[in-house]
Amino acid sequence: MKPVKVGICGLGTVGGGTFNVLQRNAVEIARRAGRDIEVAQIAARHLNPACSLGATPVTDDVFEVVNNPEIDIVIELIGGYGVAREVVLQAIANGKHVVTANKALIAVHGNEIFAAASEKGVMVAFEASVAGGIPIIKAVREGLAANQIDWVAGIINGTGNFILTEMRDKGRTFDDVLAEAQALGYAEADPTFDVEGIDAAHKLTILASIAFGIPLQFDKAYTEGISKLTTADVRYAEAFGYRIKHLGIARRTSDGVELRVHPTLIPADRLIANVNGVMNAVMVNGDAVGSTLYYGAGAGAEATASSIVADIIDVVRTLTTDPNNRVPHLAFQAHSLSDLPVLPMGEVETAYYLRIQAKDRPGVLAKVASILSERGINIESILQKEAEEQDGLVPIIIMTHRVLEQKMNDAIDALEALDDIAGPLMRIRVEQLN
Ligand code: HSE
Repeated sequence: MKPVKVGICGLGTVGGGTFNVLQRNAVEIARRAGRDIEVAQIAARHLNPACSLGATPVTDDVFEVVNNPEIDIVIELIGGYGVAREVVLQAIANGKHVVTANKALIAVHGNEIFAAASEKGVMVAFEASVAGGIPIIKAVREGLAANQIDWVAGIINGTGNFILTEMRDKGRTFDDVLAEAQALGYAEADPTFDVEGIDAAHKLTILASIAFGIPLQFDKAYTEGISKLTTADVRYAEAFGYRIKHLGIARRTSDGVELRVHPTLIPADRLIANVNGVMNAVMVNGDAVGSTLYYGAGAGAEATASSIVADIIDVVRTLTTDPNNRVPHLAFQAHSLSDLPVLPMGEVETAYYLRIQAKDRPGVLAKVASILSERGINIESILQKEAEEQDGLVPIIIMTHRVLEQKMNDAIDALEALDDIAGPLMRIRVEQLN
């Protein structure tokens, strides 16, 4: 049989890794796919010194690849929403299958892209868009297809996890660790995407859609970053038996879907609490299977290429199948997506960690307790530390039982209005993940 021809758009870290894995493992890949896979053309602005391209044709015009009649599958590794969207839509219009690692593109324009792909009977595969080398899309979309999925919780940004790990293990400051993460090459081009949770929200949006069968709704995701966390919070969390992780959480409730990315205290003895450095992990809870955990490299040249090449093999295996009977893009048949709403954050219920910087006067703790009790907020435990030398303020750390976010917002407003409380207080949500 003739080889399947692929065109790679983008030869950066991930594009280079994909080329190299396709070359190195060509024989094994052909044994799995049933056909040889040939890189017929590459679009790149710069050559990648990690790749020996041999006679593979290279162009600096991505649309040459997209419009190349020889090419069956376009691999989009450009990133971003601009040219990448045009490349993907043009490839689909030309009747080509697409493999992409672009989480931002899928989270924001995925509904449009999948509709165009279904219309043309082509596949858009995007395993590498979430958690790099972990085959989490396949696990949720196919491996757990029997289940009603109740929740998904993941460490899905390696840069953020590296920062939190270093802050906890070495007491390093946020800025210091971020600079190292950038130098290691894990951070997004704009590192605020990592530390403010946007990258994780892209990935969570995709996970929620395939878990619950809802359209992609990135604009409704609640996103809070890690840039305000202090090493003191990390220490206090430890004192209560918790770790702080930057989690993406998607949960189905009877009223709708929670879709939120924020720093979260989780019990230190959970496996996921012990996922350190740049590693990613995703927990998925299904009604039949219970809790499952997927762990691995969330970024990196060949780890991400592992997912991209698996997608290429998947596409090749199904080239001859009826387009209406392939695995649906969002796990559920396109006409069966649900209109379950994404809940506003005020309607989400969690437990909380609060750190209050209070003046050292009699009665402050009583006022704090009464503000919480007036709103039905139940304190689970409380810790008051000695005054800090420089400002004379006393840190009070409170763990609460679960309460609606809107009630907690109201309590925080009242607490911050007290004369005895200095500055904004720190609020971190707490999840048991059981
Ligand atoms: N910037 C991302 C991370 C890369 O740190 O996880 C993988 O999407």
